[in-house]
Formats: sequence, structure tokens, C-alpha cells
Amino acid sequence: MTEITRDVVIVGAGPSGLTAATRLKAAGLTVAVLEARDRVGGRTWTDDIEGATLEIGGQWVSPDQEGLLELLEELGLETFDRYREGDSLYISKSGDLTRFTGDIFPVAPETEAELVRLIDKLDAMAAEMDPDRPWEHPQAEELDTISFEAWIAQETQDQEARDNIALFIGPAMLTKPAHAFSTLQALLMASSAGSFTNLVDSDFILDKRIVGGMQEVSKRLAATVGDDLFLAQPVRRIEHGPEGVVVHAEGVHVRAKRVVLAHAPVLYNRISFEPPLPRRQHQLHQHLSMGFVIKVHAVYDRPFWREQGLSGTVFSPYQLCHEAYDNTNYQDERGTLVAFVSDLNADGVFELSDEERKGRILDSLAAYFGPEAKNPVVYYESDWGSEEWTRGAYAASFDLGGLHRYGSDVRTPVGPIHFSCSDIAGAGYQHVDGAIRMGKLTAEQLIADLT
Ligand code: FDA
Repeated sequence: MTEITRDVVIVGAGPSGLTAATRLKAAGLTVAVLEARDRVGGRTWTDDIEGATLEIGGQWVSPDQEGLLELLEELGLETFDRYREGDSLYISKSGDLTRFTGDIFPVAPETEAELVRLIDKLDAMAAEMDPDRPWEHPQAEELDTISFEAWIAQETQDQEARDNIALFIGPAMLTKPAHAFSTLQALLMASSAGSFTNLVDSDFILDKRIVGGMQEVSKRLAATVGDDLFLAQPVRRIEHGPEGVVVHAEGVHVRAKRVVLAHAPVLYNRISFEPPLPRRQHQLHQHLSMGFVIKVHAVYDRPFWREQGLSGTVFSPYQLCHEAYDNTNYQDERGTLVAFVSDLNADGVFELSDEERKGRILDSLAAYFGPEAKNPVVYYESDWGSEEWTRGAYAASFDLGGLHRYGSDVRTPVGPIHFSCSDIAGAGYQHVDGAIRMGKLTAEQLIADLT
């Protein structure tokens, strides 16, 4: 057992924890980072699967993500554009496959008018929100006690408009069905990305990727942390009091002035706190839960869809794979599609055998791209729901009523215990950008306290 003393101990070597650690070190404070896994990066993970380099977790960068963009510059990491030349595809409720360009799906004119009206309305409502203080929205309580599904149903009778608006925030972002989260929570998702329009615009929200993969951000930060990073050290117990903390991992105990929990909130209760956390935290942590999505990679000997003038971008609220994109690697001759199977659909296909599930998912890709989609040379499903140190994807959100009731305390420190992760960010919420912004903010607070 190693016993060490530091100014700050950080639990979790994802982008948030490592950003905090490097900032604290740069300010002259001593740190230790304890990571449960045998790798850094958390929900970002670039791996070689049967000879194909795949982004198993977070990967895309959008122009509003200033925290991430500044860090990429600092770390000398380059980006490249997501492939988007050509037509996108949409499958309607009746199963019609249509090519289109732009953001609005090719639906009947009256449905399109409803979509435009609702997007404008949601933009206006999101503009009234400070993503760092969603509970201060003028209608916070009213909007937090109505599910997004019920709110949409009040707004329009057009079923296809309802299904598509629900898709943008439900399966595609919070990765929960739209009956499971509030309208206030939906607005937070939109306002944290600048607007609802930005979320709907895949050219904006899925603009760029990082050469070498998103995990490279954490790997480069970890190089600066050096020997102060301890891998394969799940933290099990934290003693805390006015004097500071003692943080117990399996092979190392760290005595420190402060601890930062830099991981998804659903994992706080994996740690025994002595004394227990206050009532407020016990309660609020139970109202946050992870969404659930399967990220599927299918690698082909060539990007065959490009030959047909297709961008690889597809959407349908009525398909098992509700969205897919060209995810071909930087300078790779092969072609890669990435598709997503979200929440209730993911539950459904996990009831099947591996072969049946793969068959159903490839059938869905073939509904968009034709029979060639059924024969990838590499096929991989990211299953973050089975990962002990994550338990879902992409991130956590509040249940109905939770955000206006508890939101103001998600970041409130408990004595020497601080909280930092993408799931409690304002701008960049649920994204690597939010994780980095929270890491910087937490480090600033600690530097002000301790130096
Ligand atoms: P993160 O979860 O990354 O890191 C926390 C770390 O803490 C983990 O390494 C974990 O092992 C560790 N840990 C937990 N409990 C511990 C304990 N008790 N002791 C020690 N260590 C412990 N974002 C984006 O910007 N663009 C995108 O395209 C996507 N897409 C996407 C796809 C998929 C499939 C996923 C799962 C996620 C995304 N995201 C994303 C989200 C993004 O990956 C996520 O927001 C950030 O990785 C969160 O970073 P954090 O550092 O906050 O937590």
C-alpha cells in the first residue's frame, strides 16, 4: 500500500479530471489522479478493433465548444471535417426513403411548417436560459414538471413533427425517451449548445473530429500529470472533515486538502463517504441518471455510399438506427459508418443474441444505404451500459422535476469535496467541452482557495 500526501486528489482520469489536474499543477499545487480503469480518457476511447481504429466513445467537436477548441490548440492536436458531401437520407413513418439536403427533413409542407415553428419556439425559449443556471428560467418550474413528450403533444397535432422534435433531444442527445425528461431539461440541452437550431444542424454539432481520436486529449494531458497518475485504482472510500480528506483506493491512500470527484454522478454512490454526504446530495444524486445508446461502427472496404452521391448522414425516428454518419478515419481508404440505437430500441435489441442484434442493426443500415450495408468487414458495438465505471451513454440528466429542484446544488462542494464532470456543465453539457470547462472552473476555485 502506497501512502502519499498531496494538495488535491482527483478521482477520475477523464477529460474533466485531467484538465483540473494539469491546471492545478501549473499553479504549483501538488496532485494525485486516481483512475479506476487501466487507461485514461473515461468516456473517450480510441481503440483498434480487428485492424480498424474506432472512436468507441465521444469524438465530435462543434464550433461553439471553446473549452475543447482552446485545449486542442494548447495540446497541438489537429482536427478534420466530418465527411458531408452529397445528399442525406430520411425514412418517413410510412417507410419512404427520400434524399435531401439542409437541416429540415423531407416531410409534407404542413409538417415542415410545424417543424420550423417548433424549432423557432424552442430557440426562443432556450435563449431565455443561462445554461449555468437553468433553474432561473422564467418558467423553470412549469417546464420542469411537464415531460418533453407531453409538451410537444400540447404544441402540435402533427405526429411526424412530434416524432422528429422528440428525436432531436430524446434518442439523439439525452438518449432517453422523451417521456422520461422534462421540457426544462430539453431546453438545457439546447441552450448548452447555443440553440435548438445548433443541435438540429448536424453540420454544426458534428462538425469536426480529431486526428488521432478524442482520447488523445486525455493521453496528452496525462503525460503532463506524469507519475502523479495512478491507473487501476478505483476509489472505494473517502474520509473527509475540516482538515481535508483521506482517499482510499485499492493500492494507494492519499491524504489531501481537497478531493475532486471527476466522474459521472451515477458513480458517486460507489464510494463510501465518512461521514456520509448531506441529505441534499443523497437525494439529488438519486434524481440523475445516465441515458443509454449503442454506438455502432460498420467498416467497409470502401465508402460505397459516396459513389451514389450520399453523404452518409441519415435520420429516421422510425428506424432502429435513428441516425448514422460517415465516420471514415482520417486518410483511410476504407469507409466507416457510425450509427446509433437509442434507449428503448437498445433495450429491445439487447434481448436478442449477438448475431440477431447485429443482423437487425445491419438491416436498419441497409434500409437507408441498400444491401451493401449488410456486409461490413469490421463490425463493433460500443456498450457503455455494461461498463462498470460509466453505466450508460452519453451522460446523465435529471428526471422529471429534478432540474429546477436540485440543479442549483449539483456543483456545490461538500466541505473539501468538489464535483467536476460534463454531466454538471452549463455550456458544453454532456460533451467533452463541458467536461473541460468544468475541470478549468474547479481548478480555478481550488487555486483561489489553496494558494
Ligand atoms: P468521464 O466519464 O469521461 O471520465 C470519468 C473517469 O472517472 C473515468 O475514466 C472513470 O473510469 C473514472 N472513475 C469513475 N469512478 C471512479 C472511482 N470510484 N475511482 C476512480 N476512478 C473512477 N462528447 C462529445 O463532445 N462529442 C461526442 O461526439 C460525444 N459522443 C459520445 C459517444 C459515446 C458513446 C459516449 C459514451 C460519450 C460521448 N460523448 C461525446 C460524451 C463525452 O465522452 C463525455 O461527456 C466526457 O467524456 C465526460 O468526461 P468526464 O471527464 O466528465 O467523465
